[in-house]
Amino acid sequence: MKGLVLAGGSGTRLRPITHTSAKQLVPVANRPVLFYGLESLAEAGITEVGVIVGDTAPEIMEAVGDGSRFGLDVTYLRQEKPLGLAHGVLIAREFLGDSDFVMYLGDNFIVDGIVPFVEEFRRDSADARILLTRVSDPSAFGVAELDERGQVARLVEKPRFPKSDLALVGVYLFTSAIHEVIRGLSPSARGELEITDAIQRLIEEGRTVRSSEITGYWKDTGNVTDMLEVNREVLERVEPRVEGDVDEASEIVGRVVVGPGAVVRHSRIIGPAVIGAGCEVTDSYVGPFTSLSDGCRLVRSEVEFSIVLPDASIEGVGRLQSSLIGRAATVTTAPRVPNSTRLVLGDHSSVQLPS
Ligand code: DAU
Repeated sequence: MKGLVLAGGSGTRLRPITHTSAKQLVPVANRPVLFYGLESLAEAGITEVGVIVGDTAPEIMEAVGDGSRFGLDVTYLRQEKPLGLAHGVLIAREFLGDSDFVMYLGDNFIVDGIVPFVEEFRRDSADARILLTRVSDPSAFGVAELDERGQVARLVEKPRFPKSDLALVGVYLFTSAIHEVIRGLSPSARGELEITDAIQRLIEEGRTVRSSEITGYWKDTGNVTDMLEVNREVLERVEPRVEGDVDEASEIVGRVVVGPGAVVRHSRIIGPAVIGAGCEVTDSYVGPFTSLSDGCRLVRSEVEFSIVLPDASIEGVGRLQSSLIGRAATVTTAPRVPNSTRLVLGDHSSVQLPS
């Protein structure tokens, strides 16, 4: 069995972060979200993995390399434009050959991995297996309708009026039967070759499409709120360790990682939290569910329930909460009176000031 990871696309809901970097590389507990998916594939016994890449190809390739660090053998497949998930399968046709494969969306996060689903698929003789989970906002996802016997009857991509609350999780198991239906597919109203349409065709042709409901933690990290949620979930599981230098005047409480070369002075860090390698934290408070990536600087500031990307600097800021701060961004107070707010924001940034 092979793996196919979709790591192209545009990531509009994570702008401005995705203006300059791939959404699959936004860190969760200081590791790119994509890495967790690659590990799940390796854990399921898959070694040959194709990774679909788009405009952010150089960055993804640099982060993942040849895959050997995950125990994988990675082949990169270039998609010129994000023309849909089924288009990803189309361009991977040669790489996949006639193998069964797991398609994994690179921005999806399944805490408990995919081993049981892959095993089920290996055991049964279905043409495809999809994973479903109950959500409160089904119209943001592909939605499945089951018949009275619990078999998948219909799949609709992001319906305005969803007929069920069962969302498609971004992990799909296919046999080579999928290639035939994709070949006959036309683009949807939004101009994409939809994988939901391809699976719907399998059903209509009388092929066996099974489903598994996942009850564990799953998130599509497509937007900031979900990203922060996944970060929170993963931080709850990190093994605490202090490799950096924490002075006597500082207090570390709970599940906290302080990376090598980090310096913590006269500060409180309340876990779960991760302070990346080479960070400087001085006269500050780092609250629960916070990840500071490598090389960040936090001085006379408070940060809680947030993700801070590498080399950002935050100085003299009362309390930042529920925030995603970009690479090498600076957040400081105004140097002179009036103490007004001065912003230099990237395109599509969003700021919420206290009212
Ligand atoms: O997360 C689950 C949902 O994923 C499913 O419920 C939906 O049925 C499915 O269509 C998909 O919806 P999204 O709107 O979240 O898909 P998104 O455009 O974010 O793409 C998912 C991943 O695939 C992401 O890592 C980018 C990558 N991608 C996407 C497209 C459209 C590609 O590599 N190439 C593409 O052409």
